[in-house]
Amino acid sequence: MSDELIEKLDRIPDPASGKGLHAAGRLDGVAIRNGVATIVLKVGADESPEALKQSIESAAMALPDVERVRIISTLQRSQGEPAAPARPRQAAPAAKKPAKQVIAVAAGKGGVGKSTVAANLAAALGKSGRRVAVLDADIYGPSIPRLFGLLDTKGLRKTDTGIEPADAHGVKIVSMGFLTKPDQPVVWRGPMIQGAIQQFLNDTDWGDPDVLIIDMPPGTGDAQLAIAQTVAIDGAVIACTPQDLALDDARKAMAMFEKTHTPILGLIENMSVFLCPHCGEPSEIFGHGGTRAEAEAMGVPFLGEIPLTIELRERSDSGRPLAFDEGAVADAFARAAEAMLESAGEARKPAPEIVLTD
Ligand SMILES: Nc1ncnc2c1ncn2[C@@H]1O[C@H](COP(=O)(O)OP(=O)(O)O)[C@@H](O)[C@H]1O
Ligand SMILES: [Mg+2]
Repeated sequence: MSDELIEKLDRIPDPASGKGLHAAGRLDGVAIRNGVATIVLKVGADESPEALKQSIESAAMALPDVERVRIISTLQRSQGEPAAPARPRQAAPAAKKPAKQVIAVAAGKGGVGKSTVAANLAAALGKSGRRVAVLDADIYGPSIPRLFGLLDTKGLRKTDTGIEPADAHGVKIVSMGFLTKPDQPVVWRGPMIQGAIQQFLNDTDWGDPDVLIIDMPPGTGDAQLAIAQTVAIDGAVIACTPQDLALDDARKAMAMFEKTHTPILGLIENMSVFLCPHCGEPSEIFGHGGTRAEAEAMGVPFLGEIPLTIELRERSDSGRPLAFDEGAVADAFARAAEAMLESAGEARKPAPEIVLTD
């Protein structure tokens, strides 16, 4: 089934080399499942793949067993030339880049541990000596203040150099939660969110961190898309649990970043196995390994598995993320953080030098 599809796709010429897409190595994965053809396409950093995607879609739809086509772009890993003429990014240009790497941590739905993963990835990077910042863009349930022990931070100070971020264990933090009361649900509309996020990003005195992690709101609605379109995100990490349902949601999250041409840096499986605090025995409560298989099928990196542990949950409430310290779970976060940066390095494209003048 997939062979037939590959054959069809190989009849489409790669704009850069003129070879067929398969022969040119542009296809990172091709699968047909339940009438859905999934094609992972390598895209050059400055390439505009729209025409190519249309050709791919028509070619796939021509197969009798294909009802729907999903194309996932990953950034071309070769050091070669971009495959097509340069095109400006869809995201609005920021006045200056808030960090060397801006990485979004997203999930298709709430409760999969997105914030836990975001906070601990940041902590792992901090522990390794990188300068790290976190922007909590989760307007529906900002949990970064609790995770970093900043529940008492109310409001943000503005100085001559900009909005002053909070500092927790050396990590610079700005959260939507600093501006809202926990017991007051916030109703934000897309443009408001976009405005607030843009202001946080551009007006905060981040101090040139190596990595800025954005804890994205869960889901894939307008607000999420608005943020992904507003911010020049270098790449996205998708957190999911092993259940099929969460994976379905993770696929939606990937498709959302797809719309904004944001490379997927990888998938991370949270609550992978339950580690019994008494005997250390692992139990696969939600199943196990689904995310790795999914990542392989999608041709995106698998960043690792984080076990479900009581300690991790307790530490989440303690105000100091576990990954700052030693231990097996901290190591798992450290490995995932390194894999994420490695993936981002590959995804990195030379940024234009912007000189700020008054
Ligand atoms: N691997 C894990 N082990 C134990 N508890 C976890 C783990 N990941 C998340 N949790 C807990 O699950 C709850 C939801 O996690 P959170 O990070 O707030 O999810 P999200 O941001 O996706 O809504 C929190 O109470 C958190 O402490
Ligand atoms: Mg959260």
